[in-house]
Amino acid sequence: MSTKNATEWLMSHKRFDAHQLKKIPNRTYSIAITSGKGGVGKTSVSIKMAKVLAEDGYRVLLVDFDTNLSNTAVKLGLPINDNFYDLLSSKKKFEDCIHSDGNFHLLSACNGNLNMLDNEVGLDKIIIDIMGEHEKEYDFILLDCPAGLSKESLSLSAYCDYRFVVVTPDRSSITDSYSLIKILNQKYGVTENHLLLNKVSSNRQYERLVKSLSETVNNFLTCRLQVLGGLSYENQEVDHFDRLLLKDAGSRIHKNILKVIKRFTEKDIGTSFSNQENLVGEETLVPYAPKKLGVDDLEQDVQL
Ligand SMILES: Nc1ncnc2c1ncn2[C@@H]1O[C@H](COP(=O)(O)OP(=O)(O)OP(=O)(O)O)[C@@H](O)[C@H]1O
Ligand SMILES: [Mg+2]
Repeated sequence: MSTKNATEWLMSHKRFDAHQLKKIPNRTYSIAITSGKGGVGKTSVSIKMAKVLAEDGYRVLLVDFDTNLSNTAVKLGLPINDNFYDLLSSKKKFEDCIHSDGNFHLLSACNGNLNMLDNEVGLDKIIIDIMGEHEKEYDFILLDCPAGLSKESLSLSAYCDYRFVVVTPDRSSITDSYSLIKILNQKYGVTENHLLLNKVSSNRQYERLVKSLSETVNNFLTCRLQVLGGLSYENQEVDHFDRLLLKDAGSRIHKNILKVIKRFTEKDIGTSFSNQENLVGEETLVPYAPKKLGVDDLEQDVQL
């Protein structure tokens, strides 16, 4: 008879693995990170949210739905691969296509794969099948959606439990996100979306954008916007931003993201979020004293 206690015994036999435990019993939440307009920060937000949730103990699958212009692996410094196509064509099993780092799992997509052009099966259906098959393994499944309003992207977004619509302060982003919300509402019957403002330069700008978009949605559509918060514009050299986002736990964008996730997990889902070490003293959604960016047009009122 072993003198080890039960936990030690289970650990030593690898039957108890913290990574295999779901933090939210009997439930998986799917979230589409979407926008309409390109370049607003969907992939950045998707990766960062997935990483932060995974670090907090949630099991997270990030699916790159930018199926032939995949950026998730690139931003994470991982080798690009054709696993997504291999999965679609049944050449590989799901488990062999995933990059895993603790609780964080990534199904990246392809980059300029010619075979993907001939794919005739709806990708939305395939992703829904993958999500259904593996949902028991995850607390959250995050979908990094492509830019644009393709039917596949719209139907997959509508299928998800939540949609985080990422919007930046420029007029085209606001107009495109409104078009996305309108089609989701009128064609797919979606009555709720979450608004996440990115690249925000000041609280004043943030508040004006939230008001403008919320009022327009309320007045013209039969749906509502839940406001998740804002992420500051980081006036960095382009290639420095990813490092700041993913590696610098003291950065204000990190604090902004923690705050957004805390609000969402606790208010919308009613589950805990323990990573709060950086939130002390952060009362505002977006820090004041923005840098002068030379983008005065962003400060003008936006009419939809
Ligand atoms: N808050 C921010 N401050 C400054 N730069 C940002 C911020 N968020 C994202 N970026 C930068 O904006 C660019 C676009 O980001 P990202 O690739 O995440 O957008 P996307 O919406 O996924 O784009 P696409 O539509 O092409 O998939 C990147 O160069 C990224 O580093
Ligand atoms: Mg992207």
